[in-house]
Amino acid sequence: MFMFTRFFSGIFGLGIGLAVGIAPAHAADEIETKAQLCAACHGDKGVPADPKTIPVIWGQERSYLMKQLRDFRNGERNSAVMSPIAKGLAEDDLRKIAVYFAAKTWPARPAPAKQPLPPKGIAQCQACHQPNFQGGMPAPRLAGLSYEYLVAAMRAFAAEQRTNNLDMPKFMQALTDRERSAIARYLSAL
Ligand code: HEC
Ligand code: HEC
Repeated sequence: MFMFTRFFSGIFGLGIGLAVGIAPAHAADEIETKAQLCAACHGDKGVPADPKTIPVIWGQERSYLMKQLRDFRNGERNSAVMSPIAKGLAEDDLRKIAVYFAAKTWPARPAPAKQPLPPKGIAQCQACHQPNFQGGMPAPRLAGLSYEYLVAAMRAFAAEQRTNNLDMPKFMQALTDRERSAIARYLSAL
């Protein structure tokens, strides 16, 4: 009997030791596993499977990522693809996933051909998106997103199809289609 008690308390002690030692790594693994689902489209090295329609999320601004996941989940931002995915995530995981992707490095790519400075509009964007367009709370990084994604996002704000921000539709409506296109081309080459 004595032997058994010692044996069990030994196992039990070991169990606690393992649980305490392993718990944090295990939590990180869990986010890593959930993030693998995202890699199918957003890329396992941060380069999206189709950059024209899928934005880069590696190294994107943290609070922006978090807000988008929440907006997709509660319908403030519509996306037939992202809404069901975000609905499948637990509230508790949104922040962890945002932290996970924000901590990654924006994917490197061959230097694109520099585009001419757009005739109108970019100075005002820099107040929020930062002078180098690398983003800052709460405005997302725009530098290096694809021309097609940028122009589509700008158009969606202008048409009030994307209304999860009160300022952006007004700014985008103040520009013509041609001006938006020139800005998107410039930003995509940064
Ligand atoms: C089946 C493809 C697919 C998968 C899987 C996917 N996404 Fe997306 N994601 C998209 C597309 C397409 C968009 C652009 C939606 C739009 O513009 O309305 C997007 C947009 C986003 C955005 C907004 C970024 C921005 O710049 O506005 C975030 C954040 C995001 N996804 C996070 C995730 C996370 C986190 C996962 C995994 C849990 C994930 N996505 C899985 C296709 C996907
Ligand atoms: C007052 C601050 C502010 C100004 C000025 C501003 N933006 Fe934004 N912009 C934001 C914020 C905040 C968001 C994120 C909105 C959200 O929650 O989806 C955003 C989102 C965007 C997006 C969507 C990015 C993505 O990944 O989907 C684009 C594109 C964009 N802005 C372009 C511009 C351009 C171009 C200008 C200048 C003509 C501009 N913005 C001016 C604050 C600003």
